[in-house]
Amino acid sequence: MTRRGLTTIAMICVLCTPAMTWPAVSFIYPAAKSWVGRSDYLILKLNNPQFTAVKITVNGLASDPLQIGSPEYRKAFQDFLIVQPIWDPGKNEVVVEGFKGQERLESTATSIYFSVKKDSAAVPPEYKAIALHTPELEKLCTPCHNMSPTTAQLNKLGNDNPCYGCHKRMLNSKFVHGPAGTFSCSYCHDVKGNPKYAMPRRDAALCNDCHADKTADFKKRKYVHGPVAAGMCEVCHDPHGSPYDFQLRMPINEICLSCHEVVKQEPHVVRTTTGEGHPLTGRPDPSEWGKGRQLSCVSCHNPHAGDVRYFFQNNSPDKMQLCQACHKK
Ligand code: HEC
Ligand code: HEC
Ligand code: HEC
Ligand code: HEC
Ligand code: HEC
Ligand code: HEC
Ligand code: HEC
Ligand code: HEC
Repeated sequence: MTRRGLTTIAMICVLCTPAMTWPAVSFIYPAAKSWVGRSDYLILKLNNPQFTAVKITVNGLASDPLQIGSPEYRKAFQDFLIVQPIWDPGKNEVVVEGFKGQERLESTATSIYFSVKKDSAAVPPEYKAIALHTPELEKLCTPCHNMSPTTAQLNKLGNDNPCYGCHKRMLNSKFVHGPAGTFSCSYCHDVKGNPKYAMPRRDAALCNDCHADKTADFKKRKYVHGPVAAGMCEVCHDPHGSPYDFQLRMPINEICLSCHEVVKQEPHVVRTTTGEGHPLTGRPDPSEWGKGRQLSCVSCHNPHAGDVRYFFQNNSPDKMQLCQACHKK
């Protein structure tokens, strides 16, 4: 069942341990008053065994009643309910109502903050950071999921990998990074890390394991782009996947302009007859290297490095030769 705001994945109930110390509904992930950078899952534990249906409302949009009373449901999922929330950016008011038949028994509410840019600095301080793979939470999953995979299991690729069942949705994107697509998750995320699955190496040090040729090439260049020189590959590339080519976090121009605001404010390169700058998007790129693509910042600038100032594409030694690559006269 799909509606705006919510997709049901699986619902569950029962065999609950005595509910006395628990509220009617526990927010397992995300925890109550926490912030997240993904919108993959809302995991609830329903502690009132009388519930036969649950309704979840996110920012005023209510789901249909999710039926959790059947023996089949409870056999598979016991008292867990796992849905895909569609968080709005920023604050999300979440209300969970429990029903017995038509009768509304209880309701629990909280708010969750969704930071699309995963930027903790931009999150209001009342929302705490959380992790799923903590000993306390993993204990809840262990009865039904393999939370302590062996090295041999971790080395399995694709559907057979122990991370697959719970993380397949994060790779539902058009452009998936090689090692994420094969579920070589543990290459980058250390099972023995502290916290669990933390990265032993970060940024360029990590990327260099497999892209050393690329970095060696950048280093040879006379001019290296600021964030590349700083090893901040992840500022532009998502290590897992994204809707944009080369797993870019945003469309190219948006990424560039997020650090180079001034290019938006002043005419760039030329002042055309209309007083505007050079077109930066929305036309086909006529250059040799940009065939079949749209004009963008990287039509003229290499995003990583170059032998000429401003890293002009094709290492065009000066502006004139750059212009001529597209404006042949
Ligand atoms: C029982 C389901 C389950 C399994 C199995 C699982 N994860 Fe997760 N993991 C989650 C959920 C849910 C989150 C929260 C983020 C999200 O919604 O995707 C998460 C979060 C994470 C995070 C972010 C840090 C954290 O602790 O929140 C990392 C890294 C991660 N998982 C790696 C892995 C890797 C690597 C594997 C396989 C070895 C794995 N997970 C297996 C459910 C699971
Ligand atoms: C009572 C058994 C049970 C418990 C306990 C349980 N799950 Fe599951 N979970 C299932 C079943 C059954 C499925 C569906 C089959 C599958 O994907 O393995 C599932 C599926 C999932 C999925 C994938 C949903 C999808 O299709 O995208 C995630 C994520 C998940 N569980 C996370 C968790 C986490 C995290 C915990 C612990 C906090 C947990 N589960 C505890 C039984 C359980
Ligand atoms: C090429 C290395 C690499 C691979 C392969 C990889 N990751 Fe990651 N992952 C990262 C990096 C880097 C981060 C960012 C960590 C941070 O910001 O602290 C991250 C963050 C995460 C997060 C939390 C932040 C987020 O984006 O939601 C989750 C969940 C996660 N990875 C799960 C996985 C799973 C599951 C797999 C396998 C399908 C996987 N990763 C494969 C490098 C990788
Ligand atoms: C475990 C090895 C491994 C690690 C570590 C790794 N990559 Fe990759 N990367 C690959 C593979 C394999 C491909 C797919 C190659 C292909 O399709 O040509 C790939 C492809 C890419 C691509 C797309 C290339 C293209 O031509 O489409 C980019 C961009 C990229 N990686 C960036 C990164 C960044 C940034 C990091 C560090 C966060 C990183 N990689 C870490 C193995 C790795
Ligand atoms: C300022 C943003 C930015 C940073 C930082 C960045 N890249 Fe890229 N990268 C791009 C863009 C944009 C493309 C796509 C180029 C195109 O469209 O022609 C790309 C393409 C790539 C490719 C595939 C195409 C190719 O040139 O082979 C790889 C591999 C790659 N980057 C690796 C890295 C690594 C490794 C780092 C860190 C050392 C890094 N990138 C840092 C923006 C960036
Ligand atoms: C994370 C921030 C960041 C992003 C994203 C970014 N840049 Fe930069 N860029 C810098 C920094 C820092 C410098 C070096 C300082 C300077 O010279 O202004 C720089 C320098 C440059 C320069 C040379 C400026 C000069 O005066 O020599 C060009 C050209 C450039 N960037 C283009 C781009 C393009 C094109 C993109 C998108 C593919 C991009 N930048 C994305 C931070 C960024
Ligand atoms: C048609 C080619 C072309 C395109 C497209 C282009 N640039 Fe430039 N850019 C240049 C040239 C040429 C210069 C050299 C400075 C000058 O003479 O105007 C330059 C200079 C720069 C500089 C350094 C000087 C300054 O103005 O701050 C930055 C930063 C920059 N460009 C960023 C970008 C970004 C970001 C985009 C995409 C939004 C972009 N450029 C698109 C040709 C281009
Ligand atoms: C990557 C290809 C490319 C490069 C390099 C390039 N241009 Fe352009 N330029 C274009 C495209 C595409 C248009 C839009 C043409 C159209 O709309 O028909 C354009 C439009 C223009 C216009 C506007 C014409 C008008 O009708 O408003 C001027 C002026 C211009 N370019 C000058 C330059 C100069 C000067 C340079 C060198 C600094 C340069 N261009 C480099 C592709 C490029």
